[in-house]
Amino acid sequence: MKLEIIIVSTRPGRIGDQVGAWITKYAKAHSDFDISVADLNEINLPMFDEPGHPMKGKYQNEHTKVWSQRINQADAFVVVTPEYNYTIPPTLVNAIDYLHHEWKHKAVGFVGYGGTGAVRAIQTEKLLFTNLNVMPIPYAVNLMGVHSPAVTTFVPEEAHERAADRMLAELHLWATALKTLRATA
Ligand SMILES: Cc1cc2nc3c(=O)[nH]c(=O)nc-3n(C[C@H](O)[C@H](O)[C@H](O)COP(=O)(O)O)c2cc1C
Repeated sequence: MKLEIIIVSTRPGRIGDQVGAWITKYAKAHSDFDISVADLNEINLPMFDEPGHPMKGKYQNEHTKVWSQRINQADAFVVVTPEYNYTIPPTLVNAIDYLHHEWKHKAVGFVGYGGTGAVRAIQTEKLLFTNLNVMPIPYAVNLMGVHSPAVTTFVPEEAHERAADRMLAELHLWATALKTLRATA
């Protein structure tokens, strides 16, 4: 079961890379997923620039084709997300909008951080993903008070690991069921 961990923040000085590194290491040690990391800062997608609707899957740009293959091969996703102005960071909306069928009938879990663990952003992200037939896992990892520049080093706690265990276990269940669904759909 292939898991793509998507690091959303592209901000210079971000703490998202530390949070992403933590959940990647933790998931490698405590889940049965085969894991890779899609850091949106490295992937560096421009603002959406495809002429056609992604539903058609006819992409003109090389960066879209590469992103399409990346998401297509995954069975599940973990989104490592901050919250900007109580909602979804635009980098994630942009990365989601580029594609359509590549997301379909897969599952997504969330690791949110910030003042309140990105709870409002995650609720909105769940809604956006359901429009693409992605199953959002209700159990999220909410890292309260983890926000830069006030916090420069993310130090994970036991409660974070318990939350990660619960989210990853549920994500694996759904990913397994949805793989069967995709094979029969
Ligand atoms: C434009 C902007 C808007 C923000 N809005 C929120 C917010 O609504 N809620 C919150 O908890 N933190 C907010 N923050 C603070 C972020 O939680 C904090 O900067 C966090 O570290 C951002 O993630 P990053 O460091 O990985 O980029 C905001 C930060 C920025 C730059």
